[in-house]
Amino acid sequence: MRVRTHIIAAVVLLAAGAALAQSPKAEQVFKNIQVLKGISVDDFMGTMGVMSAAVGYDCSECHANAGTDKVDWAADTQKKVVARKMTTMVQTINAQNFSGRQMVTCWSCHHGRDRPSTTPQMELVYGPASQETDDVVQPMPGQESADEIVAKYLKALGGEQKLAAVKSYVAKGTSVGFGGFGGGGRVQIFAKFPDSRTTLMEFPDALERGDSIRTYNGSVGWIKTPLTVLGQYELTGGELDGAKFDAELAFPQQLKSVLTNLRVGLPITISDLPGPSSQTSQEKANGIGQDKLVNVLQGTGPRGLLVSLFFDKQTGLLLRMIRYAKSPIGRIPTQVDFSDYRDVDGIKMPFHLTFAWLDGRDAIQLSEVKTNAPVEAYRFGKPEGVKGK
Ligand code: HEC
Ligand code: HEC
Repeated sequence: MRVRTHIIAAVVLLAAGAALAQSPKAEQVFKNIQVLKGISVDDFMGTMGVMSAAVGYDCSECHANAGTDKVDWAADTQKKVVARKMTTMVQTINAQNFSGRQMVTCWSCHHGRDRPSTTPQMELVYGPASQETDDVVQPMPGQESADEIVAKYLKALGGEQKLAAVKSYVAKGTSVGFGGFGGGGRVQIFAKFPDSRTTLMEFPDALERGDSIRTYNGSVGWIKTPLTVLGQYELTGGELDGAKFDAELAFPQQLKSVLTNLRVGLPITISDLPGPSSQTSQEKANGIGQDKLVNVLQGTGPRGLLVSLFFDKQTGLLLRMIRYAKSPIGRIPTQVDFSDYRDVDGIKMPFHLTFAWLDGRDAIQLSEVKTNAPVEAYRFGKPEGVKGK
């Protein structure tokens, strides 16, 4: 018995060692890392997103010349030095007051501005209550159960039997963009049961922009984003778990085996991104952007990933997914909104998706989906190979 546990322990250690050797840490990839050590590159980039969002900056406000080829990311600026100090401060506050739980983050004080406000304004005191919701859902008795919500969803999609018959799909469409940016792209989505998925966005009218690619093949994932620090990188942190969950969600009958510790919170009202002002007429015609009452289901995904799902109370369909990766200074949110559900070979699939992360957002309108079309392995590999030979 004892021998066996030792062997298992040794194997686990070896596996952990191999994973460590494969996934370089931020301080190995970048030149001047003093406080954000020991995290993966994808989590580091997510952390930069959390900082920027919290204080309402873009990269160039802490990194001189960001967005041009003169940028030196490693060089310290006054704001960067403050941000480093703030990072240590946040970690100390949490260690000393919340037993190390991450209760205070940059957002707690900053809320999107660089100088936190200090005094309540009367308009806010007597205005509408804050609409901000908690990341972590408190289970609320008296709601529909998690089983009921998932069952209703699968039924609304066409039923488990029909869903199980779909082993792959290829979808084509365009990116409609936000406020004129990111539109005009050619989009292809490839998915293969149980957990491979790729989104490929090309911009034939703006070749200098470069492709946006996200791939996941069941174990390895990549991101390629244009005009950014690294160009492309392999996912090894929270973004890898997120990519795995996105791929699993492409085949929704797996939902209950993929998420554990399911809990149901109070229903809330949501309206999809984008807001009504930036909607296209097609989006308006499809009812996108209208307020909907939703059931809130939360669970734990791959490697502890926190996932929230929002189901239309009326139709049972999934309207929104938010997944949260971890960073040393707060959670890194990614939100996908689904709408314009249409029939495809006996099941319903969302033809409109908005994907929002701290590094930007894309709205995708699909025009056709082919189920059970053959999808070759290279579609889910390294970004340079995804388009084929
Ligand atoms: C509020 C200030 C702030 C903003 C905004 C910010 N950063 Fe940073 N950045 C930092 C700090 C602080 C460090 C150093 C972290 C450390 O010492 O551990 C850093 C380090 C980096 C590095 C590592 C450079 C090296 O070689 O050492 C990169 C790359 C980077 N940031 C990219 C970005 C990108 C991309 C954005 C915009 C999405 C961004 N940052 C926005 C504060 C900021
Ligand atoms: C406990 C509240 C609190 C938290 C948490 C906090 N900050 Fe701050 N931060 C402040 C205050 C207050 C100031 C303004 C200080 C001043 O004006 O002298 C400030 C100033 C800054 C500034 C400089 C702004 C300027 O105008 O030059 C940056 C950058 C900044 N914070 C980044 C961060 C980052 C990044 C985090 C998370 C790692 C963070 N802060 C967390 C309270 C906080």
